[in-house]
Amino acid sequence: MTDPRTQVLTLLLDKGQETLAFPLESLWQDIADRGPAGEDRLARTLAGQFLAGEETTAVVCEALATRLPHALARDCLALQAEEEHRHAELYRRYLAKSGSKSTVGGVGYDPASEVGPGLLSPARDAILAWRGPPEAVLLAVQVIIEGEALAFQETARRFTHCHRFDALSHTIARDEARHVAFGRVYLPNALQHLTRRERAEIHSWLRGLWFACMERLPQVGALPWASGPLARHWARAWAARRWSHWEAQLALLGISPSATHPTHAANDPAP
Ligand SMILES: [Fe+2]
Ligand SMILES: [Fe+2]
Repeated sequence: MTDPRTQVLTLLLDKGQETLAFPLESLWQDIADRGPAGEDRLARTLAGQFLAGEETTAVVCEALATRLPHALARDCLALQAEEEHRHAELYRRYLAKSGSKSTVGGVGYDPASEVGPGLLSPARDAILAWRGPPEAVLLAVQVIIEGEALAFQETARRFTHCHRFDALSHTIARDEARHVAFGRVYLPNALQHLTRRERAEIHSWLRGLWFACMERLPQVGALPWASGPLARHWARAWAARRWSHWEAQLALLGISPSATHPTHAANDPAP
């Protein structure tokens, strides 16, 4: 009999394949039909950042897909990489059709030509250089990056006025929720073999990634509610608050500075 984790991963995989079978052209047309090409500057800036995030996630998933020991998890990740490329293409079309320039990579950057440096650039470099347990990358991507992107899309919809961006964001959020679900289902079991030292190292690595990326927050796009020193102060306070949230989530998975797993500490190998 198939174990529950395998059953859920199979369901997520089937759902992903079903979604990918829907033609991209039709998907884009559905989004474009929801409103005219946007002239909302904030929506374009956010779309540029999300585009850079999608490209980063796709590259990371491709790199990681071969390193996971679980065959079904490798399939989920390979499929996710395809979906992230598809999301990137949707953002590219949105930006190309909005008739203006994104602010990703600086004023005058053309989003249709290439993806410039964005909020997640430090994470991308650090993740691709990581040689420790592959589960650390899943924590960075499936838990923190994708989880934060989902929450941020909700916030973005409150501050933007472009119906097309709203439709695009909703469409992509459905897939992202499935990617987050993959992490929730796969990770608790996959993390069991980590030593206390590995858990502490992963915690420290994730913390470094988070603040290296969030340091860039005031530079990658104008905040609609603050500028100058106030924006930097707001960004630092926000980053610290959100890290507390993610740190609590990581602790539930046994990833913390003290790194004692709540249920398996007694069996945990000595570092
Ligand atoms: Fe995505
Ligand atoms: Fe995703």
